[in-house]
Formats: sequence, C-alpha cells, structure tokens
Amino acid sequence: MLLPLMAVLIASAWPAAASTTTAAAQPAAACQRRCGDVDIPYPFGIGRGCYLYTGEGDVTFGLTCNRTADGSYRPFCWEYEVLDVSLRRGQARVRNDINRWCYNTTTRSMDAESTWWWDVSDSWFHVSDEGNRLVVVGCNSLAYVTSVNETEYMTGCMATCPSVGRLENGSCSGMGCCEAAIPRGINSYVVGFEEKFNTTSGAVGRCSYAVVVEAASFEFRTTYVTTGDFVESTGGKVPLVLDWVVGKETCREARRNATGYMCVSRDSECVDSRNGPGYLCNCSAGFEGNPYLLDGCQDINECEDSRFKYPCSVPGTCINTPGGFRCSCPDKTTGNAYFGTCEAKKSQLGVHIAIGVSIGIALLVIIMSSAYMIQQKRRLATVKRRYFNQHGGLLLFEEMKSNQGLSFTVFTKEELEEATNKFDERNVLGKGGNGTVYRGTLKDGRVVAIKRCKLINERQKKEFGKEMLILSQINHRNIVKLHGCCLEVEVPMLVYEFIPNGTLYQLIHGGRHGSRISFAARLKIAHEAAEALAYLHSWASPPIIHGDVKSPNMLIDENYTVKVSDFGASTLAPTDEAQFVTLVQGTCGYLDPEYMQTCKLTDKSDVYSFGVVLLELLTCRKALNLQALEEEKNLSSHFLLAMSENRLEGILDSQIQSEQSIELIEQMADLAKQCLDMSSEKRPSMRQVAEELDRLRKLAEHPWGRHESEELKKLLVRGSPSTFSEIELSNGYVSLTDSAYLGIQSPR
Ligand SMILES: *[C@@H]1O[C@H](CO)[C@@H](O)[C@H](O)[C@H]1NC(C)=O
Ligand SMILES: *[C@@H]1O[C@H](CO)[C@@H](O)[C@H](O)[C@H]1NC(C)=O
Ligand SMILES: *[C@@H]1O[C@H](CO)[C@@H](O)[C@H](O)[C@H]1NC(C)=O
Ligand SMILES: *[C@@H]1O[C@H](CO)[C@@H](O)[C@H](O)[C@H]1NC(C)=O
Ligand SMILES: *[C@@H]1O[C@H](CO)[C@@H](O)[C@H](O)[C@H]1NC(C)=O
Ligand SMILES: *[C@@H]1O[C@H](CO)[C@@H](O)[C@H](O)[C@H]1NC(C)=O
Ligand SMILES: *[C@@H]1O[C@H](CO)[C@@H](O)[C@H](O)[C@H]1NC(C)=O
Repeated sequence: MLLPLMAVLIASAWPAAASTTTAAAQPAAACQRRCGDVDIPYPFGIGRGCYLYTGEGDVTFGLTCNRTADGSYRPFCWEYEVLDVSLRRGQARVRNDINRWCYNTTTRSMDAESTWWWDVSDSWFHVSDEGNRLVVVGCNSLAYVTSVNETEYMTGCMATCPSVGRLENGSCSGMGCCEAAIPRGINSYVVGFEEKFNTTSGAVGRCSYAVVVEAASFEFRTTYVTTGDFVESTGGKVPLVLDWVVGKETCREARRNATGYMCVSRDSECVDSRNGPGYLCNCSAGFEGNPYLLDGCQDINECEDSRFKYPCSVPGTCINTPGGFRCSCPDKTTGNAYFGTCEAKKSQLGVHIAIGVSIGIALLVIIMSSAYMIQQKRRLATVKRRYFNQHGGLLLFEEMKSNQGLSFTVFTKEELEEATNKFDERNVLGKGGNGTVYRGTLKDGRVVAIKRCKLINERQKKEFGKEMLILSQINHRNIVKLHGCCLEVEVPMLVYEFIPNGTLYQLIHGGRHGSRISFAARLKIAHEAAEALAYLHSWASPPIIHGDVKSPNMLIDENYTVKVSDFGASTLAPTDEAQFVTLVQGTCGYLDPEYMQTCKLTDKSDVYSFGVVLLELLTCRKALNLQALEEEKNLSSHFLLAMSENRLEGILDSQIQSEQSIELIEQMADLAKQCLDMSSEKRPSMRQVAEELDRLRKLAEHPWGRHESEELKKLLVRGSPSTFSEIELSNGYVSLTDSAYLGIQSPR
C-alpha cells in the first residue's frame, strides 16, 4: 500500500527534475530504488527523472514496478520482468520464457504450445553472448535461434535420447539436452523447432523445449525429459542476461563531449562495450559504487570488507588507502605482512647495523681518498712553489715589477707540458750536453724551442731567475731570443724563439750543400757568430759565457745569416769538481782543454770552442770523427799537427782552396790556431776574433784581394795573439784608406 503512494509522490516531483535535460543530468534525489527485492540503481529508475532518459518514446532504463499475480511487486521493462541489475558488469537479468514444442494427441501433430521471441533492436540492450546459451531439451529434437527476419544468423543443436537410462544430471552434451553458443552483438532472436523431428518417437515426454538462458544458472535434470517438468520445476522463469550501454559512441568519442558524458563520478572510468559502439562506466579498481552519480564511486575499505577477509597475514595490520590497502607489521617487528610473517626486529637490527657500518666505511674511504688527493695536490703546489723560490722566482718577479715592458714570460709547468704534448719524443729538436730541446707551440700559436736542462748548480739556483731575465734582454740580430723560463720544476726550463731552418752543422756536414759553400759565405758565418759571442761576452759583467759553442748551436737561414742559440746554458754549469765528475759541460770535440783541468768556465773557453767551429768551416770535417784514423779523430789536434808539419793544404776543404788565395785561408787558419791555444791567456778575446774575421771578410770582398801587392801583404799579417794590436792597426789603416768603399763600422 505504501509503494503506490510513493509513485504518486515521485510523479509529482517530476516537473522539477525535468528542467535538467542533458543525458548526464543526475537523477532526482528521492527516487524509488527498490522494487520487490530488486535494487534498481541509476541509470535505471522508476518514474521519469529517475532514470537515464534516452530519447522520446524510448524507455530502456525506465522501469515499472507492478504487482504480479502472486501479490508481490516486480520491476518490469516493457513486458519483461527484471530479475536484477549489475552496474559492475553492465548487465541486467530478465525473465525469459521457455518455448515448447509438443505433440497434440487431439490433432495428432506437433505444435508450438509456447512461442517466445525477443526484439530489443531499438533499445540500448544486447543479448549477452558470453552470459547466455541456447539450450534444447528433449528427445529427437532440433531447435535453433535466428534473427527476427531470419537473414542475419541461425544457430542451433539437436538433442537425442538413444537410451533414456544413459541420461545424466548436469550434463548437457547432446543426450536429452544440447546447448549452443549464440552470436555476439545480437539484439533480437526467434526460437524455432525443426518440424520433421517429433518427440513421440521413442520419447517419454510429450514436449521438447528450447530457450536462450543464462548459462551459469542452467543445469540439466533427467526429469526434464523423463517427466517433462522443465517448465514446472523452473516456474517457467529462466534468466536471460542482457548487456546494456549508457551511450552509443565509444569512450573516446564520449569523453570529447563533456555535456553528455555519463561517467561523472570521481575515481570512475569508461569501458567500451564488447557488443559494438557504445560504452558504460565502472568504478576504478579499489572503488565501488555507482559511477553514474557524482561521488558515486567510494573507496572500498578492504580492511573491513568481508570480501577481502584477511587481506593481510595474521599478525599484520591492514591500513586502508584510497583505491587500495597496505599491510604492515606491528611495531618492533618486520617481515612480509601481506602473506608472510612478521618477526621481531632484532635480526633486522643486525642488518641495519651492517648496512650502517658498510655505508660508514664507504664514506670513510671516500673522505680519506679525497683528503689524500687534496694533500697530494697541496704537496705538488708546495713543491712547485719551493722550486719557484729556489730558482729565484721572487727575485725575478721583483725585477720584472721594477722593469715594466719586458717581454719575458714566466711559464707554468702545465703550459710547457701542453705546448710540447707532455714532452713527446716526436717533438725533440736536439739533445745536447746539458739538456734536450723540444719544439713546442704555445697557446697563442707562437712556436718556441723549449730547453729542458739536465742539472743545476746549487749556488746558482738562487740567481737563476734573475740571470734568465738578463739573458732575455739580450737583443742581437745574431742571437736567438729568450722568451722566458719555467721555474716551478726541479731543473728550470728555458723557452727560446724557434728558428725553423737548419744548423751550421747540418749545412757543413749535411752532405747536400756541404763543400759548395763559398769562402765568402764561410767568412760571413764565422764573422757573425764571432760578433754574437763577442756581444755576449761584453754585454754584461761578469761576461755571459755561452758554454757550449759548436756548429749545431749555430742556426743558419738561406742567406747564411747566423743565429747563435742555446746561450745561457753556462749559468747552469757546475763550478765544483764534485759535480763536474758527473756532468761535463759542453760537447766533446769543442771542449776547452784548460777547462777540463781547472773546471773553470771562462770566456776563453768559448773562444776555444769557436776555434773548432772555424776549423769545421775551413776543413768541412767534423769536430770529432770516431771513424777516422787515430790521429785524425779530434779535428783540433789533427789540425794543429798538420799546421806544425806545414801540410795545411792537405786538411783544408778543396773547394775553398780552388776559390780563394791561400794567403787569406792561411790567415783564417792562423786565427783558428790562436783560438785553439792550450793556454787560455794566449787566446785572443772574442772581440778580437770578430774584428779579425771582419778584416778578412773585407779583404776577401776587396778587388785587391786577388792582387798580391806589397801593401796588401802588409795587411795580411799573421801572428800570435800578441800581434793583434798590429792587426787592429792594420784594420784601422784599411778603414782609413778605404772606409767609404768597404763600409767598415768601427768596433763597439
Ligand atoms: C504495469 O502496470 C501498468 C499500470 O498499472 C500497466 O499499464 C502496465 O501494462 C503493467 N505492466 C506489466 C508488464 O504488467
Ligand atoms: C490440441 O489441439 C486442439 C485443436 O487445435 C486444441 O483444442 C487442444 O487444446 C490441443 N491440446 C493441447 C494439449 O494443447
Ligand atoms: C533484418 O533485420 C536487420 C536489423 O534487425 C536489418 O538490418 C536487416 O536489413 C533486415 N533484413 C531484412 C531482409 O529485412
Ligand atoms: C537426477 O536428479 C533427480 C532429482 O533432482 C533425480 O530424481 C534423478 O533420479 C536423477 N537422475 C539420475 C540419472 O541420477
Ligand atoms: C510423429 O510420430 C508419430 C508416431 O510415431 C507418427 O504417427 C507421426 O506421423 C509423426 N509425425 C511427423 C510429423 O513426423
Ligand atoms: C553533447 O551532448 C549533448 C547531450 O547529449 C548534445 O546535446 C550535444 O549536441 C553534444 N555535442 C556534441 C558536439 O556532440
Ligand atoms: C568493472 O571493474 C571491476 C573491478 O574493478 C571488474 O571486475 C569488472 O569487470 C569491470 N566491469 C567492466 C564492464 O569492465
């Protein structure tokens, strides 16, 4: 009596709800949601405004709640009784009737006593192919389902009863019962019986039955055949599963139009229908409720829900989370609370300690190694600074400060390492008595020659930087420029201007040009080299001693212009005998014999070495030739012997003998002999040598040079060092008589 009253109330509430016209509109709050013992969730509903409105005249979701013959209320959709509605599966179960095909004893023929057909083709339903089966019960019976107009599909099966005794309860496999799957996506069907089969032939029951039924709810009973109580035992009411959708487009399409989109609840998702275009909604995993209502999907409390009984292992604690749950072990225990056991934390403590300790050790190692590296770096820096200070770096800096505008650079070790590619062997230009010379390219692109010295004398270390500064100020056209030095290494490195062409040594002994150099060119070379050395000796006080005068240290360009290189090595020369034993300054063949005895390097040592260079120019022989005969091995002694035996011609280069008058050559040889005097006292100074060579050059160029006039003979004075004053006089005489022509410059 109460329910009809409610229906009236709802009907009166309808106009208010009708104002919301969009499909996604929510149903009215006060709707009848139950009919009999059937729940009716939205989108289904009873009364307008309570269900999903799908268009004029279409009442798919609109149900009626009618009182049936037995006095109970049942929901109906059209004429179909609704058994229940599942939102989760998107299905509704409706009552379906059983078709009967029976033998009429009166008419003596087969007749369809009950025919039931379905057509929901204009609705939002489909007959679920997954949920339903066509079931045929009978003996000698063939039944089928087909679409209403019989053109879309047809499927069926045949049930026979060869022996009634062999029928089995629960087995629907052809004997007394058969079943067939139905196609997917159908929304109408008609059941038919094949008329040729008639149940009376060997059958007990009068009728055959065919029905599309929910597969899960049907179970064959032998009595359906033997006593024909199928209809009676089921009450003529078997469930049929219908799939429904809430929209006829796909989820993708539906989401695009928010106005009509049905999945309005939070934590809901759209599911495409398996029957074709169309979608329905579902609460996301871990949520349940009605996805078609705002906030319809609610979190499942898995910890308390009986369906999730004991979600965690017994001692574990269940903690509900939105959309899920967590299992955790009680305090002070640990383990797998989901399906394992929780154990006391004690053992875990050990693991924690072990982890802590290993992390600690790792940290300690890292800290210690970085501390070590920092210390190493500091030590390196200290070493560098010590070397820098030892080598007079501070003195040098002070000097540089007070003398602005110097083109002297103090290079760092890294700069020079980079320039020479870490002192690569391929960059070696030459190796000498006191070090190795590398070719290097500085960052600014300048090509330099870097000399790495072998040893440095303790006493001279302090002054080294300053001396380098002095050397760097030497500016002479015949001397290679010193750019700078590097002090932060144990033995300082010198950085020179790089002269690309060859050395005098290569010019004379290199084979190709060899003896083809004219005498004039040889004089030019000798003179320029002598000038450079004289300049070095006179430029500062005490004199700067080259210390390693030799043909490989004289660089020559194509115009035979000389550049004396590798000077300043003398500052590195040892002065005490102890070091001398281990290091012989200079090069064999050029060594001053007196220096060998006294260990005192003087400017006259350079003169001696220069004498040997003169001999190389005159003879084109090497200063030391280990392949030669015993007495010819050392060029200077070989030469001096030849001089004393008056067989100079034998040793001289044949080219100059044919080109030049013997007098001039003899004078040059005589000069060499003076330079090579055993006693340094008796050797001429470098200045005197330069002047004599200058004089000889002019004589060689002078047209009179070819004449052997008396006057000229006066000029060609030969003599010991003591006669140099005469030479100077003679020189002065020449310059007086013909200075304009000869272009003589007065000596410095
Ligand atoms: C339910 O009742 C209404 C009115 O009471 C009637 O019009 C309708 O046909 C009934 N439906 C069924 C399936 O009996
Ligand atoms: C048999 O057919 C007759 C004539 O059509 C009909 O009157 C009778 O009800 C039928 N019998 C049964 C059991 O349906
Ligand atoms: C049969 O019915 C379906 C829909 O139910 C329709 O598409 C088809 O055209 C019909 N065929 C005939 C021959 O009527
Ligand atoms: C099947 O079950 C029914 C009762 O449900 C019983 O009467 C019948 O004898 C059973 N049939 C067989 C073959 O066991
Ligand atoms: C059905 O069976 C009966 C008895 O065997 C027979 O008389 C009758 O002709 C059969 N009907 C058909 C349609 O085959
Ligand atoms: C969106 O849906 C509403 C209601 O179903 C409909 O009126 C409207 O035309 C749709 N818009 C589009 C762009 O499809
Ligand atoms: C809806 O979700 C539940 C569990 O989250 C799932 O079992 C069910 O199959 C889903 N329904 C559809 C129609 O996908």
